[in-house]
Amino acid sequence: MSINSKTKLCCIIGNPVEHSLSPIMHNAGYKALDLNFVFVAFRVSDVKHAMEGLRALNVRGIVVTVPHKLEVMKYVDEIDDVARKIGAVNTIVNDNGVLRAINTDWIGGIGPLKQVLASQGEALRGKKVALLGAGGGARALAFGLKREGAEVLIFNRTVSHGKKIMQDLALDGVFGLGQKENIRKTDIIVNTTSLGMEPNVDSCAIDASCIKPNHIVYDIVYTPKETKLLRIAKNKGATIVYGDKMVLYGGIPQFELFTGVKAPVEIMEEVLLKGLTKYE
Ligand code: ATR
Repeated sequence: MSINSKTKLCCIIGNPVEHSLSPIMHNAGYKALDLNFVFVAFRVSDVKHAMEGLRALNVRGIVVTVPHKLEVMKYVDEIDDVARKIGAVNTIVNDNGVLRAINTDWIGGIGPLKQVLASQGEALRGKKVALLGAGGGARALAFGLKREGAEVLIFNRTVSHGKKIMQDLALDGVFGLGQKENIRKTDIIVNTTSLGMEPNVDSCAIDASCIKPNHIVYDIVYTPKETKLLRIAKNKGATIVYGDKMVLYGGIPQFELFTGVKAPVEIMEEVLLKGLTKYE
C-alpha cells in the first residue's frame, strides 16, 4: 500500500485521542486488503470548525469519540434512526459530500457481555443492569441492553442527565452514583464514565462495597485494559469483562461502511490486542 493522490482519508476525532487504537486497527485492515486508505487521529476541541474542515477536505469516514458524540450531530446532513434514538453518534460516512451519521457503539458495547454470558449459558434477557454514566456511551449501551431485553437502571453523578436518557430510551430507573444498595441489587454493572481511563487510572465511579461476587462487571474503558473498577471487581470474586473487544465489534461496521468491503476481522483483532498490551 502506498499513499498517493487517490488515497482516501478516514480519521478519529476526540479529546483526548492519543489512546485510541482505531488507527492501528483500521490501517491493519487496509494493509491486509491492499486498500488505498489511510486512517489518522485528530485531537479536536473546536468541533464546528473541525467538521467544516473534514467536509471541505472530503474525508471519507470519521469515527467520533469522547467528548464529541453529541455535538457532532449538529454538523452532519443525515442521522439514521438508531443513532437518533440513541441520541449520539460515533461514526460518520461521507457519501459524495453528504455526511451520514450512525452509531456502532451499541453493537460493540453489548458484544463482549453477550459473549461472556453465552459462555455461562446465559443471556441479557431479564438481567438487571446498573449502567454507570449518562453520556454518549451510556446511551448506546442502554439502547443495546434494552434491545436484548435487559432491565436498565442508570447511575450517574448528575441525576438529571440520567433522567433524560431514561425518558428517551424508556429505561427502568435512575439514581445517583452513591446509591450503593441499589447497585448491589443488580446482576451486571457496566461502567461508561471516563473514570479509570488513562491518565486518570486511579479513579473509579463506584465504591467497592457496591460489588458482590456474583456480579458481572464490565468496563468500556480499555486503556488500561484492567481498570481500577475491574481490579476491585476481580478481588471481590466477580466476573469481569474487558472493554478491549468493544473497539473491534464497533469498528467492523465502520470499516465496512467506509471501504465497502468485508473487514478482515482476525487481523484487526490481532493488532488491536497487541496494541493494548502496552496498557496491561
Ligand atoms: P461518552 O460520550 O463517552 O459517554 P461523556 O458524554 O463525556 O462521554 O460522558 C461522561 C460521563 O462520565 C457522564 O456520565 C459523566 O457524569 P455527569 O453526567 O455527571 O457529568 C461521567 N463523569 C465524568 N467525570 C466524572 C466524575 N469525576 N465523577 C463521576 N462521573 C463522571
